[in-house]
Amino acid sequence: MSQNGPPKVQAAHAAAGLVESGMLVGLGSGTTATEMVRALGRRVREYHLHIQSVATSNSTAELARAEGITVRELDDVDELDICLDGADEVDPSFRLIKGRGGALLREKIVAAAARVHVTMITPEKRVDRLGKSMPIPVEVSTVGLRHTERRLRALGAQTSVRMTSDGSLFRTDGGNAIVDCRFTDIDDVAALDSRLQNVVGVFDTGIFLGLCDVLLVGYPGRAERIDKSSAIPSSDSPSLSGA
Ligand code: 5RP
Repeated sequence: MSQNGPPKVQAAHAAAGLVESGMLVGLGSGTTATEMVRALGRRVREYHLHIQSVATSNSTAELARAEGITVRELDDVDELDICLDGADEVDPSFRLIKGRGGALLREKIVAAAARVHVTMITPEKRVDRLGKSMPIPVEVSTVGLRHTERRLRALGAQTSVRMTSDGSLFRTDGGNAIVDCRFTDIDDVAALDSRLQNVVGVFDTGIFLGLCDVLLVGYPGRAERIDKSSAIPSSDSPSLSGA
């Protein structure tokens, strides 16, 4: 893969390099995932790889098809071999915040169907604690949106309903809204996730727990691979909880 390009491209190229012929691949969304799909398309053409994919957004599906990658519906396949996606924050236990690009629900559903989860990031996305630099995106129904937002505020969130640049309500591919929720300090991210998930009107949150096995961190001219076995266990880690 190329030695050129900015750090996120390095991470994207390293991720595309993990894909082998015969694999069923989950394709993430966002700018890093876009670079990965382009690199994967080149790899498929160059090495005549036979792969199939499931996309996490309509735009990724469109790009993958344009790159000559077969795109299947999630319900038409069983387990995915690997899922390659970006993230907005990663903590030392490999827990993530995702959803800046607004594809979080579909990204989580696709990731949950994969055996191996690879997350492509740049170094500044590694944080001590989730939620320091990013609000938590929460995907909600547009029905009763203001009511749901009030319930989220009652949990201590400073909320902001996501809008588009032209001032209209941002809608996900599934037609839902996103409420970005900022918390002053998140002590127990798994407990917070459960509380958010329990709010009526919420479909899912951008907190991804147990959905990152391998981190690919892009730097100028190279990418570093860090496996979860070297991560700091968290209270929600399967090895500690016995799940
Ligand atoms: C989209 C996502 C993206 O993966 C995340 O926002 C990272 O995006 P980028 O690669 O553009 O920084 O979760 O919903």
